[in-house]
Amino acid sequence: MAHELLTGRTVIVTGAGSGIGRATAERVAAEGGRVIAVDISGDRLSALHGLIGDDAAFVAGDLADPGTIDAVIAAAGDGADGLANIAGIMDGFEPTAEIRDETWDRVLSVNVTAMMRLTRAVLPGMLARGAGAIVNVGSEAGQRGSAAGTPYTVSKHAVNGFTLSTAFFYTPQGIRCNAVAPGPVATNIEAPFHSEWAQQRLGPIMQAAIPAIARPEQLAAAIVWLLSDEASDVSGAILSVDGGWAAI
Ligand SMILES: NC(=O)c1ccc[n+]([C@@H]2O[C@H](COP(=O)([O-])OP(=O)(O)OC[C@H]3O[C@@H](n4cnc5c(N)ncnc54)[C@H](O)[C@@H]3O)[C@@H](O)[C@H]2O)c1
Repeated sequence: MAHELLTGRTVIVTGAGSGIGRATAERVAAEGGRVIAVDISGDRLSALHGLIGDDAAFVAGDLADPGTIDAVIAAAGDGADGLANIAGIMDGFEPTAEIRDETWDRVLSVNVTAMMRLTRAVLPGMLARGAGAIVNVGSEAGQRGSAAGTPYTVSKHAVNGFTLSTAFFYTPQGIRCNAVAPGPVATNIEAPFHSEWAQQRLGPIMQAAIPAIARPEQLAAAIVWLLSDEASDVSGAILSVDGGWAAI
């Protein structure tokens, strides 16, 4: 039988209902892992249930709500060996002068605060076992100022800082923390342009600089590798998985 990368591991996957999260949940299951799938959409989780079956657990809820974090930890039972913080939302491409408070608050609370709370909640179990792997999904928007509106750009830079700080504090205890930074990926993420100025400013850059659109499975492959022991000496990395965009 082929070697499976995550046999016997319990892995929490957020945003598992769609896009990169769904591809990751499927790949974790294919690699022998037990998936704790989390998404705000119960319908999407039902569809995933059809794909990865009864061995997985499914938690429908808004990760910005601390009650959802509690439900995820309860579903993980004895604790999680891996955590993939993938759920995230875009802004409306608002530049700084046009930021709406509700966009700022929602983007930061889903992309940053929820990631922090869930990671904080899984760490005691990982520390007790002296092992764990955490993978956060950042973005090429976390590496530059020209790939999104200001709220999303800020949130993805924060993902990088959170990844580095967590890796710094806990790698000596056997817990690895890394991020992947995707370029454009074909998913269901909504990215409406709410700003004429952003359209003018970003439009030409995006047309000129952005590489080919990736498939979610290409991101899942990198995430699963970072979750696995194959990446046993990798911690604190921000891995660009972006068709070479970071090199431009
Ligand atoms: N698609 C891209 O081009 C791209 C590029 C760079 C980074 N990313 C990042 O990849 C990650 C995954 O995005 P995707 O493109 O697969 O998007 P997607 O919309 O296809 O999937 C995201 C999933 O997360 C869920 N979700 C959103 N908010 C949630 C919440 N508050 N609580 C629980 N679940 C929630 C959604 O219901 C959805 O099923 C995000 O962090 C995104 O910022 C995407």
